[in-house]
Amino acid sequence: MDSIEFSKNMATEVAAFCVTYKDKPPAYSYVPLTNDAARVKVMKSRLWNEVRAAEVLSSWLKGVAELDVKSGLGSAIAEEFEHAKLLSGVLCDRGEDPWGYEPLPAQSTMFNAFEAQTGTVERMAAFALAGEGVAVFMMAQSLAKGAVLQWVQTPYRSIYAEEKNHGGDPESILAKYATAENAQARVRRTVAWSLVMRKEYFDSLDRWAIEGKSW
Ligand SMILES: [Fe+2]
Ligand SMILES: [Fe+2]
Repeated sequence: MDSIEFSKNMATEVAAFCVTYKDKPPAYSYVPLTNDAARVKVMKSRLWNEVRAAEVLSSWLKGVAELDVKSGLGSAIAEEFEHAKLLSGVLCDRGEDPWGYEPLPAQSTMFNAFEAQTGTVERMAAFALAGEGVAVFMMAQSLAKGAVLQWVQTPYRSIYAEEKNHGGDPESILAKYATAENAQARVRRTVAWSLVMRKEYFDSLDRWAIEGKSW
């Protein structure tokens, strides 16, 4: 398949996954949360993601041959730490310990699976396209007027602006590098498992933050 058409198809799949949450946004988006204890839980979980994202991207840096992807990783790593600084700052201001958080099993497993990818197109598909693509959609939900409280929206205004652009535009990267039939087959499977794991993480975060279960 033409790689531009292929990468568009993959982005459409991610968008279709996001739409399934349109009427029932997950705790991850903060939208359904009704108390600060739950909001703090979600923010701690998402702070962990920022730092873990920086670690995962860093672990890939040396092994990526494509210079445009490599330099995109470099700036994204720095931005993830900025996001961590913003979220930990908000949590500290509220008298919370930002670092006293153990990741949910589905959450750490998802990031470990990202980290285990060895090919550039799989890495971009798993994390930049399917992972951050969903995260950006959820941030847009939480930044809608009056969707969530101001103290939650404030850090995400800056985070959203950067997340939207960093990762070096995964759709164009896939259009450029996922040209062979076998690469496209691998990307297709990668997007699929990334979304499966994302759903598990969202479900687990719902149970922990909203229902008060362990995970
Ligand atoms: Fe981030
Ligand atoms: Fe990011």
